[in-house]
Amino acid sequence: MRIAVTGATGVLGQEAVGALVAAGHEVTGVTRRDRGVPVIEGRGATAVVADVFDARQLERAFRGHDVVINTLAHVPVDMTAMRPLAWREDDKLHLEASAAIAKAAALAGARKLIQESSVFMYPDNGSEWIGEDEPLAVRDRAFRPRVTEMRAAVDFAAEGRTTVILRLGQLFGRDPQTTAALRATTEGKTILLGKPENYITLLHHRDAGRAFVSALRASSGFYNVGGEPITRERWAKDLGREAKADGPAKFIPEITQAVIGARLEVQRRSLRVSSLRFMQETGWRATIGPSTPGWSRM
Ligand SMILES: NC(=O)c1ccc[n+]([C@@H]2O[C@H](COP(=O)([O-])OP(=O)(O)OC[C@H]3O[C@@H](n4cnc5c(N)ncnc54)[C@H](OP(=O)(O)O)[C@@H]3O)[C@@H](O)[C@H]2O)c1
Repeated sequence: MRIAVTGATGVLGQEAVGALVAAGHEVTGVTRRDRGVPVIEGRGATAVVADVFDARQLERAFRGHDVVINTLAHVPVDMTAMRPLAWREDDKLHLEASAAIAKAAALAGARKLIQESSVFMYPDNGSEWIGEDEPLAVRDRAFRPRVTEMRAAVDFAAEGRTTVILRLGQLFGRDPQTTAALRATTEGKTILLGKPENYITLLHHRDAGRAFVSALRASSGFYNVGGEPITRERWAKDLGREAKADGPAKFIPEITQAVIGARLEVQRRSLRVSSLRFMQETGWRATIGPSTPGWSRM
């Protein structure tokens, strides 16, 4: 298949491009700058320079492709996420670029849109499982960009077209966010949000990349994508072991957690998310878990 990927130079996009190329697809990666070109070509794809806020440029980039995959994001790393303007770029990407991408994909004649989304929109559900039909907890204004993005992707699925929305678990691997968490663990600093007994659903970048290939087989709908959920206490131990630290990763004191704001509040939620629907529909399975030795170098 001919597939166009936006966000192709990002952590997630690079994994998606590599996995799609390895599966034998003809892939075009979109970047806004010349220095993104060798990154995309290094993964075996063709690069095109385009502005993701310009629907005309996007339409030209997407023409002749069967599928468009949008992995765009700009998530602030570490505690910089608490700064008031830290999410401005990420918001703009989800609010404006994702809508432009869905519109341009339709105009360019693509038949399928695969949109990256997140499990962080689900409510805290304690130790109960969360399936795709669970109502989202997105009333706070901070979620508006993600909700707008979802609506634009759903609107693409008209006139026989297909939209697959992947609600990805918390990414981990050799990315900046996890690297910062491992460093903090080694230094004995507090890093984890939520309570030790809360659940977390993790997704290694490699498995995330493969999920975009599997999603080519999926019919229109929402799908959770993550590994076997574990408690945050277990994640703290896995982080400690992987970091070769003296003990598990430490939790941020409750009193500090109470004032972190809506953006990071999602990381306090207990999210025991089931990916059964995606696994049954596509055959995808998580292959790298937080207890797999060396996961931060894979
Ligand atoms: N579910 C999750 O847990 C989740 C989801 C997403 C990210 N993350 C984490 O967040 C960290 C950062 O990853 P990221 O994917 O957000 O960032 P990233 O790896 O820096 O990727 C950003 C991508 O979006 C594009 N981009 C960024 N800002 C843009 C802008 N203003 N205009 C146009 N394009 C823009 C970049 O394209 P250009 O080539 O044009 O520069 C790049 O391809 C990583 O540690 C990642 O694991 C976690």
